[in-house]
Amino acid sequence: MTLAQRRILLGVSGGIAAYKSCELVRRLRELGAEVRVVMTESATRFVGAATFQALSGQPVRVSLWDASAEAAMGHIELARWAERILVAPASADLLARLAHGHADDLLSTLCLASAAPLQVAPAMNRQMWAHPAVQANIQTLQRRGVQVLGPASGEQACGDVGSGRMLEPQALRDAMVASFGDGMLAGLRVLVSAGPTYEDIDPVRFIGNRSSGRMGFALAEAAALAGASVTLIAGPVSLPTPTGVLARVDVRSAAQMHAAVLAAAAEADIYIGTAAVGDYRPAEVATRKLKKKAGADLFLQLAENPDILASLSAQAGHPFLVGFAAETHDVLPYAHEKLQRKGLDMIAANQVGEGIGFEASDNALSVVWNGGSIDLARASKSVLARQLVAILAERYRAARA
Ligand code: C5P
Repeated sequence: MTLAQRRILLGVSGGIAAYKSCELVRRLRELGAEVRVVMTESATRFVGAATFQALSGQPVRVSLWDASAEAAMGHIELARWAERILVAPASADLLARLAHGHADDLLSTLCLASAAPLQVAPAMNRQMWAHPAVQANIQTLQRRGVQVLGPASGEQACGDVGSGRMLEPQALRDAMVASFGDGMLAGLRVLVSAGPTYEDIDPVRFIGNRSSGRMGFALAEAAALAGASVTLIAGPVSLPTPTGVLARVDVRSAAQMHAAVLAAAAEADIYIGTAAVGDYRPAEVATRKLKKKAGADLFLQLAENPDILASLSAQAGHPFLVGFAAETHDVLPYAHEKLQRKGLDMIAANQVGEGIGFEASDNALSVVWNGGSIDLARASKSVLARQLVAILAERYRAARA
């Protein structure tokens, strides 16, 4: 990964997430980028210009009317200098001004005056983010080709929990690298399945499992940020489509997931099966709600579902196959056995239990392939997803070399 000699204009607008942009400057410069920071007036209330000046090694600009700064590098020159403009954090007000083409301060003027691709990383209270006015502005910007990065969900500075947090600096840096086509998975097509499946018993009941879909969604996002074209096949989950994912297909049953994955796999270089696919389905689905018969036990006959990964690995020219194995015990022996039995290239195994694995935001993984393995210590699913994508990129290249 490199950003050597890339010229990045970082716009900082007013929000508490501005403190994370200090870290972002460091991350971009670590990869060799030249970074110039432009702040809005309200951003300076959160972080001082001197901080960004020290971190970027360049003068920081705030005002359109700063005569000495204009003499050194005029704003039109600065707009031409930039190869990318990233606004992080992008406040609700800044997004509105961009959507409406305002040029009432230096940053909004530069965004209009530059031909460089524009990326915005929104950060605001979840109620503001959900407001139809903000959503309409986002859609306007997206229609114009602006890349919207995030926001993420989680705890907010105001104490609320929800969608509106700025993406972490590392994720923004990865998106920047990917936008130059230098991402670890640049040019590759990645298919991800995620979430549980529901196997209907009758019109009101089903057999499901506790998978939340979060690991798969985090992987889809990490792969997209690493430059891959990502298609996501999702079981029944209530999660927003992650940043950068090109296509999402929602399914319910294992049979539907099987069909959707097989249809998309011909166009994929890599398939990551994180979905917790039901192994069995009711042999018959009742068309009317089953009635309780007092005093009698009920027996359901279950039929075996096809194994998606095994079906894929039986096909000639199949994608690079990554499986998941969630176990309550003997994680590693089962992982090795599944790698062989399902004909996989790589498997990520995890222990499920209290606060980890299913329904949890944290996970820990052992990644196994033919001839090697690596343990990823307990971390959030988004951190693990990025680590897993780095291993995947390396294994994929080694396998195709
Ligand atoms: O054998 P087990 O279900 O534990 O294996 C889990 C892995 O196999 C996951 O990657 C899951 O997506 C995949 N799988 C599948 N089709 C099934 C069952 C599991 O692809 N019917």
